[in-house]
Amino acid sequence: MHRLSGSVLAVFVLVHVLQHLAVLAGAGSHLALMEALRTIYRWPPVEALLLLCVAIQLMTGLPLAWAARAPAQRWARFSGLYLLVFLGIHTGAVLVARTGGIDTNIYFAAAGMHAWPAAAFFYPYYFFAVVAVTIHMGSALARRQPLPRKRRFIWRCAGAGVLLSALILAGMARIDIPAPYLQPFVAAPFSAKLSSGTSG
Ligand code: HEM
Repeated sequence: MHRLSGSVLAVFVLVHVLQHLAVLAGAGSHLALMEALRTIYRWPPVEALLLLCVAIQLMTGLPLAWAARAPAQRWARFSGLYLLVFLGIHTGAVLVARTGGIDTNIYFAAAGMHAWPAAAFFYPYYFFAVVAVTIHMGSALARRQPLPRKRRFIWRCAGAGVLLSALILAGMARIDIPAPYLQPFVAAPFSAKLSSGTSG
């Protein structure tokens, strides 16, 4: 169940993470690409399948991490545990915001990186999510390989994840965030300035 739902989810996650590279060309490019991809992953049957896969990952991940005690399983274990927490918070936040009528676009995702102290949470939160995805997928793909080969492959995946993360975060850090998206992250004296249009 974990491998099957993980494989379906991996297709979305690969496209989803690579799509965030578009932010390097500006928020407009990211918004246009996300709008096009939404016609697929927000189509109710597809989104229902995607959310079912997330739920299965959350339910099956913890017992698997508990059971995975062999040294060869430690990459899958630690990356998986991080992804459990990340997926729970990330998917939950997107769904709650959407029911509140918020457009959960790149401004929504990046806002926390543009306000202190929230930025201290959001930078490592996204950074390790992308790295954990590449490590987790790498350890799944190399699970039948001898240990030294598996180790080398996972290090390469981790390196690719670090590079991908750094590029996405650099892009997200550079865009201007509209004031309403920043509002929940700024302290009261600054909120007043923001609502009068002087977010700086
Ligand atoms: C820098 C990293 C990431 C950013 C900036 C990001 C941003 C976003 C945004 C903006 C949405 C809302 C999409 C929409 O409204 O159309 C979203 C949804 C989602 N993301 Fe991410 N994401 C990141 C990484 C990940 C990773 C690593 C995973 C999985 C491990 C993931 C899983 C999901 C899922 C399952 C949804 C819900 C899709 C839906 O039902 O519409 N994200 N993400």
